[in-house]
Amino acid sequence: MADAHAPLKLVVLISGRGSNLKAILDAIDAGRLSAAVCAVISNRADAPGLEYARQRAIDTLALDPADYPDRETYDRALQGMIDLFNPGLVVLAGFMRILSPGFVRHYAGRLINIHPSLLPAFRGLDTHRRAIEAGHEVHGASVHFVTEELDGGPVIAQVRVPVLDGDTPDTLAQRVLEQEHHLYVKVIQWIAEGRVTLDEEGLRFDGERLDAPKQLEAR
Ligand code: GAR
Repeated sequence: MADAHAPLKLVVLISGRGSNLKAILDAIDAGRLSAAVCAVISNRADAPGLEYARQRAIDTLALDPADYPDRETYDRALQGMIDLFNPGLVVLAGFMRILSPGFVRHYAGRLINIHPSLLPAFRGLDTHRRAIEAGHEVHGASVHFVTEELDGGPVIAQVRVPVLDGDTPDTLAQRVLEQEHHLYVKVIQWIAEGRVTLDEEGLRFDGERLDAPKQLEAR
């Protein structure tokens, strides 16, 4: 039987900078998040964010897509690698790959992603520029369980960030990113506490159906 007090075991997947990974590790180090990162896996051996894990002697692994004939074979190898660590939750933190349906189904209810927009608005890339060009006054970030749809899946929580006069994609991205860090830690803590769950009917928060994403105040 699972120990209710054991920290939630995470495997984190990254492709680059790893600032969300760093926020998660800092929160664990500071005792604000009852989780343990057992491994960080990247599709790029040179992802700068891997350094945050190495500094803490956490296992890092890189799996180069060029070594695999197709997406399904790559994802099966990735799945095998993740499952070696038997995580309670797989955390996509800037992992910039489309995942195959078999992979997503295997981790149903224990695979989450952070995306820099108020989903369902602006799925895909370049969200900050698109929000500015669309004249949106409010932008933000979302954390969601992953389903087979790109940047789809039930949204657990969002944080809203105002678009300011004179914002460029970079200035807006920077302000959103700071909020992402708080949002991701908060949602992972909820999952660690068993407060957020996903079943066939959808999301539950504290046992109640969650019909709309939780909205967090920007800090
Ligand atoms: C973050 O802004 C994250 O929301 C985004 O990539 C960035 C990774 O930054 N993810 C996506 O766009 C997923 N569709 P980080 O490597 O510094 O955490």
